[in-house]
Amino acid sequence: MAKQVFIDSAADYLGQEVVINGWLYNKTHKGKLAFLMIRDGTGIIQAVVFSGNVSEELFEQCIHLPQESALRVTGVLKEDKRAKGGCELQVDTLEIIHIAEEYPITPKEHGTDFLMDHRHLWLRSSRQHAIMKIRHQIIKACRDYFDGLGFTLIDAPIFTPSVCEGTTTLFETDYFESKAYLTQSGQLYMEAAAMAFGKVYCFGPTFRAEKSKTRRHLTEFWMIEPEMAYCDLSQDMDLAEGMIEYVVQQVLENRKDELETLERDTGRLEKIVRPFPRITYDEAVQILHEANAEFKDGDDFGGGDETIISDKFEKPVMVTHYPAQVKAFYMKTDPAKPDRALCVDMLAPEGYGEIIGGGQREDNLDILLTRIKEHNLPADAFKWYLDLRKYGSVPHAGFGLGIERTVAYICGLQHIRETIPFPRTIYRLYP
Ligand code: 4AD
Ligand code: MG
Repeated sequence: MAKQVFIDSAADYLGQEVVINGWLYNKTHKGKLAFLMIRDGTGIIQAVVFSGNVSEELFEQCIHLPQESALRVTGVLKEDKRAKGGCELQVDTLEIIHIAEEYPITPKEHGTDFLMDHRHLWLRSSRQHAIMKIRHQIIKACRDYFDGLGFTLIDAPIFTPSVCEGTTTLFETDYFESKAYLTQSGQLYMEAAAMAFGKVYCFGPTFRAEKSKTRRHLTEFWMIEPEMAYCDLSQDMDLAEGMIEYVVQQVLENRKDELETLERDTGRLEKIVRPFPRITYDEAVQILHEANAEFKDGDDFGGGDETIISDKFEKPVMVTHYPAQVKAFYMKTDPAKPDRALCVDMLAPEGYGEIIGGGQREDNLDILLTRIKEHNLPADAFKWYLDLRKYGSVPHAGFGLGIERTVAYICGLQHIRETIPFPRTIYRLYP
């Protein structure tokens, strides 16, 4: 039996007889030769069928085989310097596993809605393939970064009894005789974990009932959230900066082909090395005023404001000290300026907006209680969280990186919907 190989390692088997399992991506024929482009998820290879090697009937079938038909081909790998993988397969035998129906996605232009309705098939295209490969690399790099620094991975629950990021975007669900919410962030649980393990992170899906239809918002998105005990805002920013540098450089190193498929300007990504600029909210507001943007002091930044601010920089910019009133209840306020939060948002360059939100947490029991009341949150549900301020409360900080925003930025995508295999937005729950 010939060895079964994947296309990405085919060049290691030149001159040998191998089996390749895959799907028909494209085909042409000329005289006695049929050229089948076969993809197997790791790459694409040309398989050449000579009519003399197979039955007349099978050769006819090859020529008329619809796109995405499933095939098992056996043959000898021959060097071909012009081919992407450096070789082609000269077919000895070919088994048709399944003859596909007429494939709905053709090389002609399709509308976004059509493609999104066929997302389960669209994922097979080279562009979507490249995006998912980069997404995987980004997630791996984040995890490697924290693992390398000795962080412990702690999983946060998905069903929660309480709010983390504001009551307006909660997804509520029945939970036996009571109600539960789908988690908006694992942060509060990471705070508990940081007091147990020192430095921790979670990685999982988070949910927000975002009613706005923007190119930056999903209702289900993935976040990586580190949290550290005995950590202040500036150390937290060092960590965020180090992580982004590592992630971008890892993608540049390991996903060259995919970035090329996406026609990403990698020169801009090569500049993403520490240190990143750090400015305060007030300095950011100054930038908006200088650009004559319509902006009211004290407000949170909208997507358009973030673009104007980040356009001033080639690297991601970290904006700190927002007005406490526009930020979440758990943020520690600046002792020197109590109306300001010790928080940081990292804004990606090229108009991609906020990719990271985080900061130092309120560690004083009484102040935290007051903040919970001010935000009209039910203190009952936070009883366990308040315990953390009763038993060895220490300064601590962390942040959340939105995976999809980061994928959009690194891949250079117009819209967040292509960054996740099966996007969920206000208008999309299918497929
Ligand atoms: O700024 P956010 O709301 O911060 C938190 O949830 C903190 N509890 C995190 C922490 O400190 N542990 O969200 C963090 C990041 C944003 O910067 C953004 O990248 C992403 O999550 N994000 C979204 N991504 C896609 N769709 C949405 N609707 C998003 N909302 C936030
Ligand atoms: Mg935020």
